[in-house]
Amino acid sequence: MRSHYCGDVSVKELDQTVTLAGWVHRRRDHGGVIFLDLRDRSGLVQVVFAPSRPDVFKLAETLRNEYVIQVKGKVRRRPEGTVNRELATGEIEVDGAELTILNKADILPFPIDEYHDVGEETRLRYRYLDLRRPDMLNRMKMRAAINRYLRRYLDDQGFLDIETPFLTKATPEGARDYLVPSRTKPGSFFALPQSPQQFKQLLMMAGIDRYYQIVRCFRDEDLRADRQPEFTQLDIETSFLNEDEIQKIMEVMIRGLFDELLHVKLPDPFPRMTYGEAMSRFGSDKPDLRIPLELIDVGDLMKSVDFKVFSGPANDPHGRVAALHVPKGAELSRKQIDDYTQFVSNFGAKGLAYIKFNADGLQSPILKFIPEATVQTILERTKAKAGDIIFFGADKTEIVNESLGALRLKLGHELGLVEKTWKPLWVIDFPMFEKGEGRLSACHHPFTAPKIKDISELENDPIKILARAYDMVLNGSEIGGGSIRINTSELQMAVFKALNISENDAHEKFGHLLTALKLGAPPHGGIAFGIDRLAMLMTDSTSIRDVIAFPKTQTATCPLTDAPAPVDPKQLLELGIRVRKEIPEEKKETEKS
Ligand code: AMO
Ligand code: AMP
Repeated sequence: MRSHYCGDVSVKELDQTVTLAGWVHRRRDHGGVIFLDLRDRSGLVQVVFAPSRPDVFKLAETLRNEYVIQVKGKVRRRPEGTVNRELATGEIEVDGAELTILNKADILPFPIDEYHDVGEETRLRYRYLDLRRPDMLNRMKMRAAINRYLRRYLDDQGFLDIETPFLTKATPEGARDYLVPSRTKPGSFFALPQSPQQFKQLLMMAGIDRYYQIVRCFRDEDLRADRQPEFTQLDIETSFLNEDEIQKIMEVMIRGLFDELLHVKLPDPFPRMTYGEAMSRFGSDKPDLRIPLELIDVGDLMKSVDFKVFSGPANDPHGRVAALHVPKGAELSRKQIDDYTQFVSNFGAKGLAYIKFNADGLQSPILKFIPEATVQTILERTKAKAGDIIFFGADKTEIVNESLGALRLKLGHELGLVEKTWKPLWVIDFPMFEKGEGRLSACHHPFTAPKIKDISELENDPIKILARAYDMVLNGSEIGGGSIRINTSELQMAVFKALNISENDAHEKFGHLLTALKLGAPPHGGIAFGIDRLAMLMTDSTSIRDVIAFPKTQTATCPLTDAPAPVDPKQLLELGIRVRKEIPEEKKETEKS
């Protein structure tokens, strides 16, 4: 139906007859001549219809935006003075000799040919129209280019692309599972994988040695701008490589990706930072190193001050008092500081003390509580100068890290301190376990190998144990995470035990893995990258949804198809499922009593 893509026609085709097909982007009638911007995936080209061909001209007069047409005509130079340098095809035009309307279009819910701020709900409802917009199309192209590069690199490195099941058993990655009821085994459910973690480990036990897959993962978790209930991982596993060797291969891949697609040279090697250092300096395990602000401990200075808000956490082994020094911050108004105080309260902070270093002296609501010599030490330690401000957080360590970590990012963006560059790093030496609701849970996942010499360490003081886990972080975003895995069933059982998973439960949930670990399991480890997050960063998008063709909303629904939706009662009957009506609150109470 066509000889060329619209965007590819150039002076090389001068005097040739081309056949094009695409959408009417815009029609302009000028001095008895019709100018048409014809659009397809590759771009736009100008087609001109002159009244000297009355039949074609008449048909061209009926064209409306987004009609789908086919045009045949000769390529000619645009007349002097009408060349459009902004357009790849701006030097030429097509003299429309034949025109076929392939399909008409009603008036669209939003225009494609001009920028129009359309609500996201509408964009998602008519996503196929939204994707016609050049910005969106370019994002899809970039995403495809990313996948293409990654596949090529891994293929060349001897990785095998192998598929793993979607209908499977729960694999813990810290989120809720999406469940699929079984018809053949009523009352039983498949879980959609939160990641192919167990299968890729089993592939190593199968001797595959190097595996990768670009694969959908499903997690029913609270959504944010960088999270989707179904998202795509570049999932990787290798055998007989240690963490340094795995990180090296991955760095080369990511450096190559940025070089080829963005012509950006990332550092070689990527810097490495321990989790402990990242939390202490940036209050985050995914520090954005483009922002030159750091948290500085001042707890040692506050142990005996006459201000409980500070001395309390300073003397609490689980507490922290930290300062955040902001150059030129003394210009912040009272109102701005109040807003920041409100902001940190979202993270549980009970206040936001500060010292302003004005030209005429210090100004602060806490000066009266802190000895002058201590204030001097703080100024020296933070290297504050006249014109600066120092914020303080004092609380449980997690609250201080979270609140000042978030404030650091907010100030960095609002004060224009974000360096225009790319700052990747590896965060290493994560803790193996974290304490939540009275018992331990795995920081990464329970298949991650602990950094221990002897299995007995798991029984003594598990919370202190580090994991052989690593995250790749880029500009404050966790783009990948992985670890060296446990490869003996004894160690796996000991970790399950530390996680309070009973022997019975362990066998019921992970029996297949425990058996495989006893039947010749090589040392192995891997990583998974978030393709959506990578694409979001590489296209400079603000939301992960902008790089997914058909994403879900913040409430995990799809406005295009209206999924999720009720199903036919017959289907439920077949599955042996009865949907309970919402129980009214009073009934719940009476049921309890
Ligand atoms: P993890 O849970 O860290 O590790 O996930 C790996 C990467 O996937 C991306 N990611 C997400 N992207 C979008 N939406 C989400 N809801 C979402 N959740 C995670 C992140 C993250 O770094 N099986 C392990 C990997 C391994 O150990 O090899 C795993 O899934 O970019
Ligand atoms: P107050 O004496 O409660 O008015 O607090 C004096 C200053 O300390 C105010 O600027 C508060 O915002 C700040 N403040 C109170 N609690 C904390 C805290 N946990 N961390 C940091 N600053 C705090």
